[in-house]
Amino acid sequence: MLIRSLKWFLLWWMILQIIFEVVKSQVKSLQPQERISHTATYINNKLYILGGESITTNPTTNEIALKEFFYLDCSKSFDTTNLSWEFLSNIQVPTRWSAASAKGGINNDTIFIYGGFSNDENDLNLVYTYNTKSDTWIIPKILNNFNITSKKNLEAIINYNDGKIYLFGGTSDELGISNDMVILDTINLVYNIGNLTNAPTPRFYYGATLLPNQNIIYFGGNDGKEALDLDVVYLYDTINNIWNTNKVTGLIPSKRYLFSTVLGSDGRGIIIFGGFNVVNTDSLYILDTINLEWYVPNITGQLPANRYNHKANVIGNFMVVSFGYGYQQEKESDILLLNMTNEKYEWSIVFKPLNDTLPLPSTSISSPPTMTQTSSPTISSEPQSNISSTTIKPIIIAGVLVGILFIILGYLFL
Ligand SMILES: *[C@@H]1O[C@H](CO)[C@@H](O)[C@H](O)[C@H]1NC(C)=O
Ligand SMILES: *[C@@H]1O[C@H](CO)[C@@H](O)[C@H](O)[C@H]1NC(C)=O
Ligand SMILES: *[C@@H]1O[C@H](CO)[C@@H](O)[C@H](O)[C@H]1NC(C)=O
Ligand SMILES: *[C@@H]1O[C@H](CO)[C@@H](O)[C@H](O)[C@H]1NC(C)=O
Ligand SMILES: *[C@@H]1O[C@H](CO)[C@@H](O)[C@H](O)[C@H]1NC(C)=O
Ligand SMILES: *[C@@H]1O[C@H](CO)[C@@H](O)[C@H](O)[C@H]1NC(C)=O
Ligand SMILES: *[C@@H]1O[C@H](CO)[C@@H](O)[C@H](O)[C@H]1NC(C)=O
Ligand SMILES: *[C@@H]1O[C@H](CO)[C@@H](O)[C@H](O)[C@H]1NC(C)=O
Repeated sequence: MLIRSLKWFLLWWMILQIIFEVVKSQVKSLQPQERISHTATYINNKLYILGGESITTNPTTNEIALKEFFYLDCSKSFDTTNLSWEFLSNIQVPTRWSAASAKGGINNDTIFIYGGFSNDENDLNLVYTYNTKSDTWIIPKILNNFNITSKKNLEAIINYNDGKIYLFGGTSDELGISNDMVILDTINLVYNIGNLTNAPTPRFYYGATLLPNQNIIYFGGNDGKEALDLDVVYLYDTINNIWNTNKVTGLIPSKRYLFSTVLGSDGRGIIIFGGFNVVNTDSLYILDTINLEWYVPNITGQLPANRYNHKANVIGNFMVVSFGYGYQQEKESDILLLNMTNEKYEWSIVFKPLNDTLPLPSTSISSPPTMTQTSSPTISSEPQSNISSTTIKPIIIAGVLVGILFIILGYLFL
Protein backbone atom coordinates (compact mmCIF):
# COMPACT_ATOMS: atom_id res chain seq x y z
CA MET A 1 0.00 0.00 0.00
CA LEU A 2 2.69 2.41 1.08
CA ILE A 3 4.94 1.43 -1.82
CA ARG A 4 2.04 1.81 -4.23
CA SER A 5 1.22 5.35 -3.14
CA LEU A 6 4.92 6.16 -3.15
CA LYS A 7 5.05 5.03 -6.80
CA TRP A 8 2.03 7.20 -7.65
CA PHE A 9 3.64 10.09 -5.87
CA LEU A 10 6.83 9.58 -7.90
CA LEU A 11 4.84 9.36 -11.12
CA TRP A 12 3.02 12.65 -10.50
CA TRP A 13 6.17 14.32 -9.29
CA MET A 14 8.00 13.41 -12.50
CA ILE A 15 5.11 14.53 -14.71
CA LEU A 16 4.98 17.84 -12.88
CA GLN A 17 8.74 18.24 -13.27
CA ILE A 18 8.51 17.71 -17.02
CA ILE A 19 5.60 20.14 -17.35
CA PHE A 20 7.58 22.63 -15.29
CA GLU A 21 10.67 22.29 -17.48
CA VAL A 22 8.70 22.60 -20.72
CA VAL A 23 6.89 25.70 -19.45
CA LYS A 24 10.18 27.15 -18.24
CA SER A 25 11.84 26.62 -21.62
CA GLN A 26 8.84 28.18 -23.37
CA VAL A 27 8.88 31.24 -21.15
CA LYS A 28 12.62 31.60 -21.62
CA SER A 29 12.32 31.01 -25.35
CA LEU A 30 11.03 34.54 -25.98
CA GLN A 31 14.35 35.45 -27.47
CA PRO A 32 14.70 38.12 -30.13
CA GLN A 33 16.25 37.30 -33.48
CA GLU A 34 19.84 38.26 -34.17
CA ARG A 35 20.01 41.68 -35.79
CA ILE A 36 22.20 44.52 -37.03
CA SER A 37 21.56 48.25 -37.54
CA HIS A 38 19.01 48.40 -34.69
CA THR A 39 18.70 51.27 -32.23
CA ALA A 40 19.47 50.85 -28.52
CA THR A 41 18.27 53.60 -26.17
CA TYR A 42 18.67 53.54 -22.39
CA ILE A 43 15.90 55.24 -20.37
CA ASN A 44 14.97 54.75 -16.70
CA ASN A 45 16.73 51.41 -16.16
CA LYS A 46 15.51 49.96 -19.44
CA LEU A 47 17.54 49.33 -22.58
CA TYR A 48 15.06 49.66 -25.45
CA ILE A 49 15.92 47.90 -28.71
CA LEU A 50 14.05 48.85 -31.87
CA GLY A 51 14.06 47.12 -35.20
CA GLY A 52 17.22 46.55 -37.16
CA GLU A 53 17.86 44.27 -40.06
CA SER A 54 17.63 40.50 -39.91
CA ILE A 55 20.80 38.56 -40.51
CA THR A 56 20.79 36.10 -43.36
CA THR A 57 23.65 34.20 -44.91
CA ASN A 58 23.45 36.25 -48.10
CA PRO A 59 24.37 39.81 -47.12
CA THR A 60 22.87 41.32 -50.30
CA THR A 61 19.34 40.06 -49.60
CA ASN A 62 19.00 40.83 -45.92
CA GLU A 63 17.39 44.22 -46.15
CA ILE A 64 14.35 43.29 -44.10
CA ALA A 65 13.42 45.55 -41.22
CA LEU A 66 12.54 43.67 -38.06
CA LYS A 67 9.35 45.13 -36.66
CA GLU A 68 10.21 44.30 -33.07
CA PHE A 69 10.42 46.50 -30.01
CA PHE A 70 11.63 45.14 -26.69
CA TYR A 71 13.72 46.02 -23.67
CA LEU A 72 16.12 44.62 -21.13
CA ASP A 73 15.40 45.48 -17.50
CA CYS A 74 18.63 46.85 -16.00
CA SER A 75 17.20 47.78 -12.58
CA LYS A 76 18.35 44.41 -11.27
CA SER A 77 21.25 42.01 -11.79
CA PHE A 78 21.15 39.71 -14.78
CA ASP A 79 23.24 37.08 -16.46
CA THR A 80 23.85 37.32 -20.22
CA THR A 81 23.46 33.54 -20.62
CA ASN A 82 19.88 33.85 -19.37
CA LEU A 83 18.44 37.17 -20.55
CA SER A 84 14.80 37.95 -19.93
CA TRP A 85 13.67 40.33 -22.67
CA GLU A 86 10.34 42.10 -22.35
CA PHE A 87 8.53 42.51 -25.66
CA LEU A 88 6.44 45.63 -26.18
CA SER A 89 3.53 45.98 -28.58
CA ASN A 90 4.76 46.32 -32.15
CA ILE A 91 1.52 47.80 -33.46
CA GLN A 92 2.47 51.46 -33.95
CA VAL A 93 6.19 50.77 -34.07
CA PRO A 94 8.08 52.20 -37.04
CA THR A 95 9.87 49.62 -39.16
CA ARG A 96 13.43 50.86 -39.31
CA TRP A 97 17.02 49.95 -39.72
CA SER A 98 20.10 52.20 -39.76
CA ALA A 99 18.08 54.89 -37.96
CA ALA A 100 19.53 57.13 -35.24
CA SER A 101 18.07 57.24 -31.75
CA ALA A 102 18.48 59.26 -28.57
CA LYS A 103 16.73 59.83 -25.29
CA GLY A 104 15.16 63.30 -25.15
CA GLY A 105 12.04 65.34 -24.53
CA ILE A 106 10.97 67.65 -21.72
CA ASN A 107 10.99 64.90 -19.12
CA ASN A 108 13.98 63.01 -20.49
CA ASP A 109 11.76 59.98 -20.98
CA THR A 110 11.16 59.86 -24.73
CA ILE A 111 12.94 57.92 -27.46
CA PHE A 112 13.50 59.97 -30.61
CA ILE A 113 13.99 57.90 -33.79
CA TYR A 114 15.32 59.81 -36.81
CA GLY A 115 15.84 58.69 -40.40
CA GLY A 116 16.86 55.18 -41.37
CA PHE A 117 15.53 52.74 -43.93
CA SER A 118 12.11 51.11 -44.07
CA ASN A 119 10.50 48.49 -46.33
CA ASP A 120 7.08 49.91 -45.59
CA GLU A 121 5.99 52.68 -47.97
CA ASN A 122 3.29 53.83 -45.52
CA ASP A 123 5.87 54.29 -42.82
CA LEU A 124 8.29 56.90 -44.12
CA ASN A 125 8.00 59.69 -41.53
CA LEU A 126 11.29 61.31 -40.64
CA VAL A 127 10.94 61.28 -36.85
CA TYR A 128 9.00 59.10 -34.43
CA THR A 129 8.87 59.41 -30.67
CA TYR A 130 8.08 56.81 -28.05
CA ASN A 131 7.04 58.01 -24.62
CA THR A 132 8.25 55.42 -22.13
CA LYS A 133 5.84 56.60 -19.41
CA SER A 134 2.65 56.42 -21.45
CA ASP A 135 3.87 53.61 -23.76
CA THR A 136 2.79 55.52 -26.89
CA TRP A 137 4.35 56.18 -30.29
CA ILE A 138 3.67 59.45 -32.04
CA ILE A 139 4.79 61.20 -35.22
CA PRO A 140 5.72 64.63 -33.86
CA LYS A 141 5.18 67.80 -35.85
CA ILE A 142 8.55 69.52 -36.06
CA LEU A 143 8.97 73.12 -37.20
CA ASN A 144 11.51 74.33 -39.79
CA ASN A 145 11.30 71.01 -41.57
CA PHE A 146 12.19 72.47 -44.98
CA ASN A 147 15.18 70.82 -46.60
CA ILE A 148 15.69 68.30 -43.79
CA THR A 149 16.67 65.07 -45.51
CA SER A 150 16.12 61.56 -44.24
CA LYS A 151 19.63 60.46 -43.41
CA LYS A 152 20.77 56.95 -42.60
CA ASN A 153 23.85 55.34 -41.03
CA LEU A 154 24.56 58.19 -38.62
CA GLU A 155 24.63 58.82 -34.88
CA ALA A 156 22.18 60.89 -32.81
CA ILE A 157 24.02 62.62 -29.97
CA ILE A 158 22.01 64.62 -27.47
CA ASN A 159 23.27 67.42 -25.26
CA TYR A 160 21.12 67.17 -22.13
CA ASN A 161 21.79 70.77 -21.20
CA ASP A 162 19.50 72.00 -23.96
CA GLY A 163 17.77 68.83 -25.16
CA LYS A 164 19.14 69.15 -28.71
CA ILE A 165 20.03 66.13 -30.81
CA TYR A 166 22.98 66.54 -33.21
CA LEU A 167 22.70 64.55 -36.43
CA PHE A 168 25.97 64.76 -38.36
CA GLY A 169 26.78 63.25 -41.74
CA GLY A 170 25.37 59.91 -42.83
CA THR A 171 23.89 59.00 -46.19
CA SER A 172 20.72 60.12 -47.96
CA ASP A 173 19.14 59.98 -51.39
CA GLU A 174 19.35 63.77 -51.72
CA LEU A 175 22.88 64.44 -50.45
CA GLY A 176 24.65 61.11 -50.88
CA ILE A 177 27.32 60.89 -48.19
CA SER A 178 27.15 64.18 -46.31
CA ASN A 179 28.89 66.26 -43.67
CA ASP A 180 25.99 68.49 -42.74
CA MET A 181 24.77 68.91 -39.17
CA VAL A 182 21.03 68.75 -38.54
CA ILE A 183 20.05 69.83 -35.04
CA LEU A 184 16.73 68.61 -33.63
CA ASP A 185 15.51 70.43 -30.54
CA THR A 186 13.55 67.75 -28.62
CA ILE A 187 12.02 70.28 -26.18
CA ASN A 188 10.67 72.88 -28.65
CA LEU A 189 10.36 70.43 -31.57
CA VAL A 190 12.20 72.56 -34.11
CA TYR A 191 15.07 71.86 -36.53
CA ASN A 192 18.21 73.94 -36.88
CA ILE A 193 21.18 73.60 -39.18
CA GLY A 194 24.64 73.44 -37.64
CA ASN A 195 27.82 75.09 -38.84
CA LEU A 196 29.48 73.65 -41.96
CA THR A 197 32.73 75.64 -41.69
CA ASN A 198 35.64 73.33 -40.85
CA ALA A 199 33.33 70.32 -40.72
CA PRO A 200 34.93 66.86 -41.17
CA THR A 201 34.86 65.34 -44.66
CA PRO A 202 31.58 63.56 -45.55
CA ARG A 203 31.24 60.22 -43.79
CA PHE A 204 28.89 57.62 -42.31
CA TYR A 205 29.32 54.67 -39.87
CA TYR A 206 31.60 56.93 -37.78
CA GLY A 207 32.13 57.10 -34.01
CA ALA A 208 30.64 59.93 -31.92
CA THR A 209 30.04 60.75 -28.29
CA LEU A 210 29.33 63.79 -26.10
CA LEU A 211 32.11 64.98 -23.78
CA PRO A 212 31.50 66.60 -20.37
CA ASN A 213 32.53 70.00 -21.86
CA GLN A 214 29.55 69.85 -24.26
CA ASN A 215 31.70 69.13 -27.29
CA ILE A 216 30.74 66.17 -29.46
CA ILE A 217 33.76 64.21 -30.63
CA TYR A 218 33.71 62.48 -34.03
CA PHE A 219 36.23 60.15 -35.67
CA GLY A 220 36.64 57.30 -38.15
CA GLY A 221 33.82 56.07 -40.37
CA ASN A 222 33.59 55.48 -44.09
CA ASP A 223 33.57 58.01 -46.94
CA GLY A 224 32.00 55.64 -49.48
CA LYS A 225 35.38 54.41 -50.69
CA GLU A 226 37.30 53.38 -47.61
CA ALA A 227 37.62 53.35 -43.85
CA LEU A 228 38.75 56.64 -42.32
CA ASP A 229 41.62 57.43 -39.96
CA LEU A 230 41.45 57.57 -36.18
CA ASP A 231 44.55 59.73 -35.74
CA VAL A 232 42.45 62.87 -36.04
CA VAL A 233 39.30 63.78 -34.10
CA TYR A 234 36.72 66.46 -34.85
CA LEU A 235 35.02 68.37 -32.05
CA TYR A 236 31.68 70.09 -32.49
CA ASP A 237 31.27 72.76 -29.82
CA THR A 238 27.51 72.65 -29.16
CA ILE A 239 27.55 75.93 -27.23
CA ASN A 240 29.22 78.07 -29.93
CA ASN A 241 28.41 75.91 -32.98
CA ILE A 242 32.03 75.70 -34.08
CA TRP A 243 34.06 72.78 -35.47
CA ASN A 244 37.62 72.11 -34.25
CA THR A 245 40.08 69.48 -35.40
CA ASN A 246 42.67 67.78 -33.19
CA LYS A 247 45.52 65.38 -33.91
CA VAL A 248 45.62 62.47 -31.48
CA THR A 249 48.59 60.27 -30.61
CA GLY A 250 49.37 57.03 -28.79
CA LEU A 251 48.50 53.56 -30.00
CA ILE A 252 46.29 54.69 -32.89
CA PRO A 253 43.72 52.08 -33.99
CA SER A 254 43.76 51.11 -37.67
CA LYS A 255 41.24 52.90 -39.91
CA ARG A 256 37.79 51.58 -39.11
CA TYR A 257 34.02 51.98 -39.29
CA LEU A 258 30.88 50.32 -37.88
CA PHE A 259 32.42 50.23 -34.41
CA SER A 260 30.70 51.48 -31.24
CA THR A 261 31.75 54.53 -29.24
CA VAL A 262 30.90 55.36 -25.62
CA LEU A 263 32.26 57.65 -22.95
CA GLY A 264 33.34 55.32 -20.14
CA SER A 265 31.92 55.58 -16.63
CA ASP A 266 34.96 57.66 -15.58
CA GLY A 267 33.82 60.46 -17.94
CA ARG A 268 37.34 60.61 -19.36
CA GLY A 269 38.05 57.62 -21.58
CA ILE A 270 36.22 57.01 -24.85
CA ILE A 271 35.90 53.30 -25.46
CA ILE A 272 35.61 52.02 -29.01
CA PHE A 273 34.72 48.40 -29.69
CA GLY A 274 34.47 46.32 -32.85
CA GLY A 275 34.31 47.45 -36.44
CA PHE A 276 34.24 45.97 -39.90
CA ASN A 277 37.29 43.86 -40.80
CA VAL A 278 38.70 44.02 -37.27
CA VAL A 279 40.01 40.98 -35.39
CA ASN A 280 38.90 40.44 -31.81
CA THR A 281 42.42 40.85 -30.39
CA ASP A 282 42.42 44.37 -31.90
CA SER A 283 38.79 45.29 -31.20
CA LEU A 284 38.94 47.57 -28.16
CA TYR A 285 40.76 50.87 -27.66
CA ILE A 286 40.39 53.78 -25.28
CA LEU A 287 40.97 57.43 -26.17
CA ASP A 288 42.05 59.42 -23.14
CA THR A 289 40.25 62.73 -23.74
CA ILE A 290 42.53 64.70 -21.40
CA ASN A 291 45.83 64.04 -23.16
CA LEU A 292 44.26 62.92 -26.48
CA GLU A 293 46.05 59.58 -26.52
CA TRP A 294 44.79 56.19 -27.68
CA TYR A 295 45.73 53.15 -25.60
CA VAL A 296 44.76 49.52 -25.23
CA PRO A 297 43.62 48.73 -21.68
CA ASN A 298 44.37 45.47 -19.89
CA ILE A 299 41.13 43.53 -19.92
CA THR A 300 40.41 40.35 -18.00
CA GLY A 301 37.60 37.87 -18.65
CA GLN A 302 36.65 35.91 -21.76
CA LEU A 303 37.54 37.86 -24.94
CA PRO A 304 34.42 37.95 -27.13
CA ALA A 305 34.27 37.66 -30.93
CA ASN A 306 34.62 40.95 -32.79
CA ARG A 307 31.32 42.59 -33.71
CA TYR A 308 30.26 45.29 -36.11
CA ASN A 309 26.99 47.08 -36.78
CA HIS A 310 26.15 46.50 -33.10
CA LYS A 311 25.29 49.14 -30.48
CA ALA A 312 26.86 50.00 -27.13
CA ASN A 313 25.39 51.89 -24.17
CA VAL A 314 26.87 52.78 -20.79
CA ILE A 315 24.67 51.54 -17.96
CA GLY A 316 26.06 52.14 -14.51
CA ASN A 317 29.59 50.77 -14.51
CA PHE A 318 29.05 48.60 -17.57
CA MET A 319 29.40 49.03 -21.30
CA VAL A 320 26.48 47.02 -22.66
CA VAL A 321 26.99 45.84 -26.26
CA SER A 322 23.89 44.63 -28.10
CA PHE A 323 23.59 42.37 -31.14
CA GLY A 324 25.57 43.05 -34.38
CA TYR A 325 27.42 40.87 -36.87
CA GLY A 326 30.31 38.62 -35.99
CA TYR A 327 29.17 36.23 -33.26
CA GLN A 328 27.17 33.04 -33.18
CA GLN A 329 24.06 33.07 -30.99
CA GLU A 330 24.73 29.48 -29.87
CA LYS A 331 28.16 30.41 -28.56
CA GLU A 332 27.80 33.97 -27.37
CA SER A 333 25.03 36.04 -25.87
CA ASP A 334 23.36 38.85 -27.83
CA ILE A 335 24.60 41.07 -24.99
CA LEU A 336 28.24 41.61 -24.03
CA LEU A 337 29.19 43.34 -20.80
CA LEU A 338 32.39 45.21 -20.09
CA ASN A 339 32.72 45.91 -16.37
CA MET A 340 34.48 49.30 -16.14
CA THR A 341 34.47 49.66 -12.33
CA ASN A 342 37.50 51.69 -11.16
CA GLU A 343 39.00 51.48 -14.68
CA LYS A 344 39.69 47.76 -14.13
CA TYR A 345 38.20 46.41 -17.34
CA GLU A 346 36.66 42.96 -17.40
CA TRP A 347 34.44 41.14 -19.90
CA SER A 348 31.68 39.83 -17.70
CA ILE A 349 28.53 37.75 -18.05
CA VAL A 350 26.95 39.28 -14.97
CA PHE A 351 25.43 42.75 -14.85
CA LYS A 352 24.96 44.53 -11.54
CA PRO A 353 23.20 47.89 -11.26
CA LEU A 354 24.88 50.69 -9.34
CA ASN A 355 22.42 50.63 -6.44
CA ASP A 356 22.36 46.85 -6.15
CA THR A 357 23.73 45.56 -2.87
CA LEU A 358 22.42 42.02 -3.21
CA PRO A 359 24.92 39.22 -3.89
CA LEU A 360 25.52 38.30 -7.53
CA PRO A 361 23.04 35.82 -8.97
CA SER A 362 24.44 32.30 -8.88
CA THR A 363 23.90 31.07 -12.39
CA SER A 364 24.94 27.56 -13.24
CA ILE A 365 24.98 26.33 -9.66
CA SER A 366 21.22 26.03 -9.34
CA SER A 367 20.68 23.90 -12.42
CA PRO A 368 22.79 21.42 -14.39
CA PRO A 369 24.53 22.86 -17.47
CA THR A 370 22.42 20.82 -19.88
CA MET A 371 19.35 22.84 -18.94
CA THR A 372 20.84 26.11 -20.12
CA GLN A 373 21.37 24.56 -23.54
CA THR A 374 17.86 23.20 -23.92
CA SER A 375 16.27 26.45 -22.96
CA SER A 376 17.53 28.99 -25.47
CA PRO A 377 15.64 28.09 -28.67
CA THR A 378 12.16 29.20 -29.52
CA ILE A 379 9.10 26.99 -29.28
CA SER A 380 6.58 29.61 -28.33
CA SER A 381 3.89 30.82 -30.68
CA GLU A 382 4.01 34.34 -29.29
CA PRO A 383 3.58 36.76 -32.20
CA GLN A 384 6.75 38.70 -31.40
CA SER A 385 9.08 35.75 -31.35
CA ASN A 386 10.14 33.88 -34.43
CA ILE A 387 10.29 30.15 -34.91
CA SER A 388 13.80 29.28 -35.97
CA SER A 389 15.33 26.06 -37.19
CA THR A 390 16.60 25.41 -33.67
CA THR A 391 12.95 24.94 -32.60
CA ILE A 392 13.38 21.23 -33.17
CA LYS A 393 15.99 20.90 -30.43
CA PRO A 394 13.80 21.32 -27.31
CA ILE A 395 11.17 19.06 -28.84
CA ILE A 396 13.76 16.31 -29.31
CA ILE A 397 15.04 16.84 -25.79
CA ALA A 398 11.51 16.81 -24.36
CA GLY A 399 10.93 13.60 -26.30
CA VAL A 400 14.07 12.02 -24.86
CA LEU A 401 13.02 13.09 -21.35
CA VAL A 402 9.56 11.58 -21.78
CA GLY A 403 11.21 8.41 -23.11
CA ILE A 404 13.44 8.18 -20.05
CA LEU A 405 10.41 8.77 -17.82
CA PHE A 406 8.56 5.86 -19.40
CA ILE A 407 11.56 3.57 -19.01
CA ILE A 408 11.71 4.47 -15.32
CA LEU A 409 7.96 4.05 -14.94
CA GLY A 410 8.04 0.71 -16.71
CA TYR A 411 10.78 -0.40 -14.35
CA LEU A 412 8.90 0.84 -11.26
CA PHE A 413 5.57 -0.72 -12.16
CA LEU A 414 6.81 -4.08 -13.39
C1 LIG B 1 18.60 63.50 -18.63
O1 LIG B 1 19.39 62.33 -18.47
C2 LIG B 1 20.79 62.54 -18.47
C3 LIG B 1 21.51 61.24 -18.30
O2 LIG B 1 21.10 60.27 -19.18
C4 LIG B 1 21.19 63.49 -17.38
O3 LIG B 1 22.57 63.76 -17.48
C5 LIG B 1 20.39 64.78 -17.50
O4 LIG B 1 20.67 65.61 -16.41
C6 LIG B 1 18.91 64.50 -17.54
N1 LIG B 1 18.19 65.73 -17.77
C7 LIG B 1 17.11 66.08 -17.10
C8 LIG B 1 16.47 67.38 -17.46
O5 LIG B 1 16.63 65.36 -16.21
C1 LIG C 1 16.27 74.26 -49.86
O1 LIG C 1 17.31 73.77 -50.70
C2 LIG C 1 17.28 74.39 -52.00
C3 LIG C 1 18.34 73.69 -52.85
O2 LIG C 1 19.44 73.29 -52.11
C4 LIG C 1 17.55 75.89 -51.85
O3 LIG C 1 17.53 76.50 -53.10
C5 LIG C 1 16.48 76.50 -50.94
O4 LIG C 1 16.78 77.85 -50.70
C6 LIG C 1 16.41 75.76 -49.63
N1 LIG C 1 15.30 76.25 -48.85
C7 LIG C 1 15.40 76.67 -47.60
C8 LIG C 1 14.15 77.18 -46.98
O5 LIG C 1 16.46 76.62 -46.98
C1 LIG D 1 30.99 78.78 -38.06
O1 LIG D 1 32.29 78.49 -37.63
C2 LIG D 1 33.25 79.50 -37.95
C3 LIG D 1 34.60 79.06 -37.45
O2 LIG D 1 34.84 77.74 -37.71
C4 LIG D 1 32.86 80.80 -37.30
O3 LIG D 1 33.78 81.79 -37.70
C5 LIG D 1 31.46 81.17 -37.69
O4 LIG D 1 31.06 82.32 -36.97
C6 LIG D 1 30.50 80.04 -37.40
N1 LIG D 1 29.19 80.37 -37.91
C7 LIG D 1 28.12 80.38 -37.15
C8 LIG D 1 26.85 80.72 -37.83
O5 LIG D 1 28.14 80.07 -35.96
C1 LIG E 1 48.88 46.27 -18.56
O1 LIG E 1 49.55 45.45 -17.62
C2 LIG E 1 50.98 45.50 -17.75
C3 LIG E 1 51.56 44.47 -16.80
O2 LIG E 1 50.88 44.46 -15.58
C4 LIG E 1 51.47 46.92 -17.45
O3 LIG E 1 52.86 46.98 -17.60
C5 LIG E 1 50.80 47.87 -18.42
O4 LIG E 1 51.17 49.21 -18.09
C6 LIG E 1 49.29 47.73 -18.35
N1 LIG E 1 48.70 48.56 -19.40
C7 LIG E 1 47.77 49.47 -19.15
C8 LIG E 1 47.28 50.24 -20.33
O5 LIG E 1 47.33 49.69 -18.03
C1 LIG F 1 33.02 44.68 -11.56
O1 LIG F 1 34.36 44.98 -11.22
C2 LIG F 1 34.54 45.34 -9.86
C3 LIG F 1 35.98 45.80 -9.70
O2 LIG F 1 36.84 44.95 -10.34
C4 LIG F 1 34.18 44.14 -9.01
O3 LIG F 1 34.34 44.48 -7.63
C5 LIG F 1 32.74 43.75 -9.27
O4 LIG F 1 32.39 42.58 -8.55
C6 LIG F 1 32.54 43.49 -10.75
N1 LIG F 1 31.12 43.27 -10.99
C7 LIG F 1 30.66 42.17 -11.58
C8 LIG F 1 29.19 42.09 -11.73
O5 LIG F 1 31.39 41.26 -11.94
C1 LIG G 1 17.67 50.49 -8.19
O1 LIG G 1 16.98 51.69 -8.45
C2 LIG G 1 15.87 51.57 -9.33
C3 LIG G 1 15.27 52.93 -9.50
O2 LIG G 1 16.25 53.87 -9.74
C4 LIG G 1 14.83 50.60 -8.78
O3 LIG G 1 13.79 50.42 -9.71
C5 LIG G 1 15.50 49.29 -8.50
O4 LIG G 1 14.57 48.44 -7.90
C6 LIG G 1 16.69 49.51 -7.59
N1 LIG G 1 17.34 48.23 -7.39
C7 LIG G 1 17.63 47.81 -6.16
C8 LIG G 1 18.26 46.47 -6.09
O5 LIG G 1 17.42 48.46 -5.17
C1 LIG H 1 16.95 32.56 -15.66
O1 LIG H 1 16.36 33.77 -15.21
C2 LIG H 1 15.11 33.60 -14.54
C3 LIG H 1 14.61 34.96 -14.11
O2 LIG H 1 14.72 35.89 -15.13
C4 LIG H 1 15.28 32.70 -13.34
O3 LIG H 1 14.01 32.48 -12.74
C5 LIG H 1 15.89 31.38 -13.76
O4 LIG H 1 16.16 30.60 -12.62
C6 LIG H 1 17.19 31.62 -14.52
N1 LIG H 1 17.69 30.33 -15.01
C7 LIG H 1 18.97 29.97 -14.86
C8 LIG H 1 19.34 28.67 -15.48
O5 LIG H 1 19.79 30.67 -14.28
C1 LIG I 1 9.83 34.86 -39.00
O1 LIG I 1 10.85 35.04 -39.94
C2 LIG I 1 10.45 34.87 -41.29
C3 LIG I 1 11.66 35.07 -42.16
O2 LIG I 1 12.80 34.54 -41.57
C4 LIG I 1 9.36 35.90 -41.60
O3 LIG I 1 8.89 35.68 -42.92
C5 LIG I 1 8.22 35.77 -40.63
O4 LIG I 1 7.27 36.80 -40.85
C6 LIG I 1 8.72 35.86 -39.20
N1 LIG I 1 7.64 35.63 -38.28
C7 LIG I 1 7.39 36.43 -37.24
C8 LIG I 1 6.27 36.03 -36.37
O5 LIG I 1 8.08 37.43 -36.99
